[in-house]
Amino acid sequence: MSPAPDLLDLFATRLYRRPVGDLDLAELLATCLSVMEDDEAGHEWSEANGYPGYTSYASLTDLPWRMPIFATLVERLDAHVARFAEALTFELEDKPLILEDIWINVLPEGGSHSGHIHPHSVVSGTIYVALPEGASPIRFEDPRLPMMMAAPPRREGKPFAYVTPAVGDVLLWESWLRHEVPMNMAEEERVSVSFNYRWT
Ligand SMILES: [Fe+2]
Repeated sequence: MSPAPDLLDLFATRLYRRPVGDLDLAELLATCLSVMEDDEAGHEWSEANGYPGYTSYASLTDLPWRMPIFATLVERLDAHVARFAEALTFELEDKPLILEDIWINVLPEGGSHSGHIHPHSVVSGTIYVALPEGASPIRFEDPRLPMMMAAPPRREGKPFAYVTPAVGDVLLWESWLRHEVPMNMAEEERVSVSFNYRWT
């Protein structure tokens, strides 16, 4: 609904969504699965920290240096993040946003990832690598929610927004935006690669 002329919508939260572009997604998927296969430390960390599935978040910090497909992915992501930074009208001077972390997530059936933000970063995002039928969307929370206290429910502008990406989509958001992955109802694994960009 567009607002009446006497109403202004202030402080919109921007979410960027766009296909990644020229990238071999089959190779990216195969690489994610083979990294998972070999990453014992990652499995141990996932289990010890209650992550229902596999993440390389704490175990592998050098995917773009190990795997050429990840190096290509980072080139593509750099371009998307630069566009998003432009859309956000960030004044970056001569310091572009740069990749801080990039990691693989594999969520099996029944797996979920509860609400969180990505502290110390400016832009965060995910590229979707395998989304079998019934795979979870991603859910974003209205950043004003903690301030709403006694506000009545609304017909529009619900406090949670569900976004269902397609394979190959890149989603980007500002790192302070709380998000979660609801339970994965797909029988097969949901595979994604997430990342943080910082400004220094
Ligand atoms: Fe996240």
